[in-house]
Amino acid sequence: MSADAVPFLDLITPHIELEEELTAVFRRALRTAGFIGGPAVEDFEKAFAAFCESEHAVGLNSGTDALRFALMACGIEAGDAVLTVPHTFIATTEAISQAGAFPEFIDIDERTYNLSAAKLEEYLREQCSRDGSGRAISRRSGRPVTAVVPVHLYGQMADMESILRLAEEFRLTVIEDACQAHGAEYFSAKHNRWFKAGSMGKAAAFSFYPGKNLGACGEAGAATTQDPAIAAKIRMLRDHGQAHKYYHDIEGYNGRLDSIQAGLLQVKLGHLAQWNAARRERAAEYNRLLAGHDGVVCPYEPSWSKAVYHLYVIRVGDRDGLMKHLKEEGIGTGIHYPVPLHLQKAYASMHHAAADFPVATRVAAEIVSLPMFPQLTAAQQAKVAGEVLAFTAREARTLAGQPA
Ligand SMILES: Cc1ncc(COP(=O)(O)O)c(C=O)c1O
Repeated sequence: MSADAVPFLDLITPHIELEEELTAVFRRALRTAGFIGGPAVEDFEKAFAAFCESEHAVGLNSGTDALRFALMACGIEAGDAVLTVPHTFIATTEAISQAGAFPEFIDIDERTYNLSAAKLEEYLREQCSRDGSGRAISRRSGRPVTAVVPVHLYGQMADMESILRLAEEFRLTVIEDACQAHGAEYFSAKHNRWFKAGSMGKAAAFSFYPGKNLGACGEAGAATTQDPAIAAKIRMLRDHGQAHKYYHDIEGYNGRLDSIQAGLLQVKLGHLAQWNAARRERAAEYNRLLAGHDGVVCPYEPSWSKAVYHLYVIRVGDRDGLMKHLKEEGIGTGIHYPVPLHLQKAYASMHHAAADFPVATRVAAEIVSLPMFPQLTAAQQAKVAGEVLAFTAREARTLAGQPA
């Protein structure tokens, strides 16, 4: 890599900066043989719950299991329909299926790329009937619709208040996929205050996959909830269905967070607010450099949102051409995600066409994620933005029939 190359993500610098503290965690685990459970896990759970302004956090082995256990603990039953978006990582729908339910898709909002509350409402009013007890029954599948999973994609919360209002009317449980949104905030007009991701739904799932805003040094996740009964159920599910050793009330899973990861996460959690603030500053700088230029659509942050920019995603006409150009200039990029779930082979049995969810289909073809991490320098951002604009201006000239 050339000296002025800009990586998509720098996972090395923050670990070098914290090397002494992180190594001490590992040494402590070795010297106490404290590998599973114990104070490291409990301390992290308390600290993460406080960070999310939630009563309870349960440490788990991944975000996928966090979502699966949250759904199960909230009473989602085999055969239920659970609504979510097609523009997300497949773990969202894997967790729904693995909980025994069936995902059904609702299209996303054109500007935020998150669940469209307007389309959710349209679906519930026009594509569902109501049974005797007032539950929504999907006309698509004939299944009872019992839950909705808004995904706070790229670090920005979905429009929770509108979603919660519909959920109340249609008796849906709201479970947040907050796997990309540690620390994101939503302003509730109803309560006249900001809420943290993971504190508004019945339960929420977080991933600590290494590249996340709060990342472990391996696999890890957590579920949050305000409800002690749901927290207790998730604790049982993660530990073979036992609340007391070898007394199994239900069949569960091996879904525990290990003590070393909990200790490492505890160290990093102390820096998360500052890292998130740095991401917001980097996003504002990209906006300053890129906004208002033809051919580039910058991320949209509604007034009710404080996003934590897990990813900084722009839209352009020739996405593949731009990525090729940036790669030639030594700039790393990504696509999150190139194929929406309704068009994935894994869901071919749903028989969806691209036009069923037109916004998700269009967005997936135009998005590109630019380098985004707290240590990104102003010079690196200027280089990235300069190359994006050089490419899009050339593209515009070509389209207008002028020499590139
Ligand atoms: C939106 C979303 N949901 C769920 C997950 C699953 O998390 P994990 O990889 O920790 O299982 C991820 C992680 O990439 C994600 O981005």
